[in-house]
Formats: sequence, C-alpha cells, structure tokens
Amino acid sequence: MDSRRAFLKTAGVLLGAIVMPAQSRAEGLLERRIPKTGEALPAVGLGTWQVFDVAGDSRELGQAKETLRVFVEGGGRMVDSSPMYGSSEQVTGQLATDLGVRSKLFVATKVWTSGKQAGIRQMEESLRKLRLNSLDLMQVHNLVDAQTHLATLRDWKAAGRIRYLGITHYHAGAHGDLEQLVKKGDIDFVQVNYSLAEPEAERRLLGAAAEAGTAVIVNRPFAEGAMFRRVRDRALPEWAKEAGAASWAQFFLKWIVAQPAVTCVIPGTRNPRHVADNLGALAGPLPDAALRRRMAEHFNSL
Ligand SMILES: NC(=O)c1ccc[n+]([C@@H]2O[C@H](COP(=O)([O-])OP(=O)(O)OC[C@H]3O[C@@H](n4cnc5c(N)ncnc54)[C@H](OP(=O)(O)O)[C@@H]3O)[C@@H](O)[C@H]2O)c1
Repeated sequence: MDSRRAFLKTAGVLLGAIVMPAQSRAEGLLERRIPKTGEALPAVGLGTWQVFDVAGDSRELGQAKETLRVFVEGGGRMVDSSPMYGSSEQVTGQLATDLGVRSKLFVATKVWTSGKQAGIRQMEESLRKLRLNSLDLMQVHNLVDAQTHLATLRDWKAAGRIRYLGITHYHAGAHGDLEQLVKKGDIDFVQVNYSLAEPEAERRLLGAAAEAGTAVIVNRPFAEGAMFRRVRDRALPEWAKEAGAASWAQFFLKWIVAQPAVTCVIPGTRNPRHVADNLGALAGPLPDAALRRRMAEHFNSL
C-alpha cells in the first residue's frame, strides 16, 4: 500500500471513529416540533430528579458526567431540572460546561416557591447555577403560585430571558387544573405524568394541549422505576419488535412517544447504559394505535 492510500485508510478509520458514528446516530432520530414555533426537538430527553443531586460525591458525579456525555453524543437535547432537586441544577451547569455541551442542550428548569420577588430571586439563582444567561424553558413547578409566576414568566419571555414558559405536575389529581391553564392559550409547554402505569393524561389533557398548541413533556415515564419492578422477571414479548422496542424501557417509551400530542419524554437516570437504552426509543418504527392498545393490554395483564 502506498503512503497516500495508507493515509486515506487511516483518516477513514479515524473519521469513522470520530465523525461518522455521531452523524449516523443523529440521522433518522425521532424529533417532534414545538407547536408554538415549529422548532424541532429529539423526543427523548433526560430527567435529573434525585439522579443529578450528586455535588457532594465524586464517584456519582462521574456517573452523571458520563451519562450526560452519552446523552448528548446519542443525539439527546432536553435536560429537565428544578430548584427542588438539591444540587441538580448546579451539577447540570458544571457538567455541561466541563463537557463543552452547553450550546447543544435544551435546558428546562422550574420555579418552586411562593411570591413574585421570591420567584424572581429563585429563577436568577437557577440561571447562575446552570451557568446560563437565558434559559430555553422555565416552568411553574407543581403549579405552586402559578398565576404570580406566569405573570413574571410572560415578562421574562418578552425580555428574552426565557424562550418558552410552562407548567408542570406529576399527579392525575392536578390534570384538571393544568387543562384549565392550557386552554387559556399562552402556555408553551405542559409537563405531566403519563405512562402505561399512569395513562390518565390521555383522557382530556393531551387532547386539550394539542388543541391549544401546547407542547407536552412527559415526566415519570417509568412511574419512578416501579414499572421495571413489575416486568422484572418477564421476557419482552416477541411482537415488541414491531414497535421497534428492544428492551422494556424502549417498550414503555415508544408507547409514550407514539402519542401524537407528546413532544418529549424525560426519563430520569444517572446510568450511562440506561440513557443509551432510553435514546434507543428515538430509532426504528413507532407503534400504531392498534399496537399501542396491545402493549397496554399486555402491560395491564402482568
Ligand atoms: N412535578 C414535576 O415537575 C416532576 C415530577 C416528577 C418528575 N419530574 C421530572 O421527570 C423526570 C422523570 O421522572 P422520575 O425520575 O420521577 O421517574 P422515571 O423517569 O419514571 O423513573 C426513573 C427511574 O427509572 C430508572 N431507569 C431509567 N432508565 C432506565 C432504563 N433504561 N432501564 C432501567 N431502569 C431505568 C432509573 O434508575 P437508574 O438511575 O438506575 O437508571 C430511576 O430509578 C424527573 O427526573 C424530573 O426531571 C418532574
């Protein structure tokens, strides 16, 4: 082999190792558009409750760093945090800076306090911890003092300090209140629990969100991990591959993201293997309505 061919071969191997895998992973991944703007987002994100509250433990911090690295390399963008999640905002800001991936992320956090000035102070603090001057999405956590904070968020959005505003809850008992706010029309994102174990949002809320042009973030996609305990000893059914699911996590996530109103699902993990598994739900076929019904029947029979 002459030296030029040898060089091209080496370069090809290097390019294959460095450039191509990232490109091919990014190709064909499931994206959803944010209804109010048309901006595209990968349909699987990353939750940080508990799992990124690790500022005091260098081993766990290393796990979180590797998880975020794998997440971004695999095409993930949305990371969801809150001042309620201990050191998770600070850890997200630190790791995104260390990894040099801040510009690749779509960062969502929340305001979780009462009173206008307390809310403003908390949001300023969140930006500082996340090491950002402006934020992609600020949400009112669990609807705490929602009217007060939404007024501030409208001002912040007009001033360019946040790009989107939203509201969240984690429990079906609050879906009616979320729906009322969504119907007012200027809520960019609603974040809500929705899974095979907690499907109540599809009764009314998801339809109301679609009608109002509100993007939907799904939290608790595994019912905080309880769904894995339910299927622990069970093999995936053979027909799961029709839904493009190669693991139980993908089975659960594909069922969620196949719901047309859903914009992004945010499973929580600090395990790099799990985040790669979850991003697997961005590839391959999605279940149609009949297959989703079969998936639900199967899960409910376990
Ligand atoms: N009110 C609100 O605004 C609100 C409320 C609840 C949640 N949230 C947001 O939603 C996110 C997700 O909800 P969540 O964390 O409560 O529950 P979840 O995502 O339903 O479940 C998290 C659990 O699933 C496990 N897991 C993740 N991926 C896995 C995989 N591929 N295979 C096996 N196990 C896996 C994790 O364990 P490992 O760590 O071992 O992977 C963790 O124990 C939160 O992190 C938070 O950002 C918001």
